[in-house]
Amino acid sequence: MPYQQYIDYRKFSGRLKADLVEVGFGNAQFLVEIAKQNPDKIVLGFEVSDASIRKLVRKLRNNYIPNLFFVKIDAFWGFQLLVEDNSVEKLYINYPCPWFKKRHHRRRITRREVLLLFAKKIKSEGQIIIRTDYYDLVEYTAQQAEGIFEVRSSQIHVDQPITKYEKKWLEEGRKIYEIVLTKKQSKDPDSQTNEIKFLEISYRDTAMVIPKKMSLDQILNYLRSIREEEIRLKDQVVAKFLDSYFDERKIVVETLISEKGFVQKFFLLIEDIEEKYLIDVSEFSEILRTDGILRFVRYISDVLSKEDDR
Ligand SMILES: C[S@@+](CC[C@H](N)C(=O)[O-])C[C@H]1O[C@@H](n2cnc3c(N)ncnc32)[C@H](O)[C@@H]1O
Repeated sequence: MPYQQYIDYRKFSGRLKADLVEVGFGNAQFLVEIAKQNPDKIVLGFEVSDASIRKLVRKLRNNYIPNLFFVKIDAFWGFQLLVEDNSVEKLYINYPCPWFKKRHHRRRITRREVLLLFAKKIKSEGQIIIRTDYYDLVEYTAQQAEGIFEVRSSQIHVDQPITKYEKKWLEEGRKIYEIVLTKKQSKDPDSQTNEIKFLEISYRDTAMVIPKKMSLDQILNYLRSIREEEIRLKDQVVAKFLDSYFDERKIVVETLISEKGFVQKFFLLIEDIEEKYLIDVSEFSEILRTDGILRFVRYISDVLSKEDDR
């Protein structure tokens, strides 16, 4: 049953010891192949695309591979949340999104901040193996990896394409490059971790109580008046209210929150509980209770308490 191998990061606490990891597995051809070839190793795939996750689920339906696990999350956050330090032997990235424009370079998966995090999770002598058809990415990666990894790169000859994109680029007659980043004992990523935007997960309760001094209508009007407006809190926390729903006892507001670039959508619940209002993340919202969410609930509770005095 393939879903047993799907890891819902919101429900998972603890760390995985994955031997082989692939970031951005696309149609999963390579991921499935390395899992089959290495039955004694734990293989973990990260993807952000729903379509790719569906392709892998389809492949596993008739082909159960017990050592293969996969998560739908940006690898940067996936590594932080799920992967044990010093555990990964090999990390594969085949044909990462190139992000050609200079102003988009900070989205590249081989930017320094991400490489530092990968270095923390990879074993000594462990490697990141990247294939690309884009020479600029080779140079960029080598420069970003300076002082973190030992870098080797070369143009390679490929007979049998290992991924869908590789097949495409070979058919177009493009050159293929391989970059190998090796973690050396002498380089210490821990001393540089202040460059990483860590996500703080809070297992504390997010529920807040405000004195009931206003009507649900007033609250609803206020929330609607700031619909789609950006609410900016400290430490790169930005939130927005979207649609709201209500009955005579409660309001539910669709809320989007970005914290250091990690985006989550949830329902904020405001409920009349005799003499008071309770504000919390709705129990139907499957989210990580980050420090940002906690602070946002607190902020809305404060604003609503003050709203009454006007
Ligand atoms: C150009 S495709 C290559 C797919 C596959 N590796 C291949 O060679 O056919 C890049 C893939 O990386 C995924 N991706 C991009 N950024 C990612 C990230 N930060 N974390 C996980 N997956 C990512 C995309 O969804 C896409 O499927």
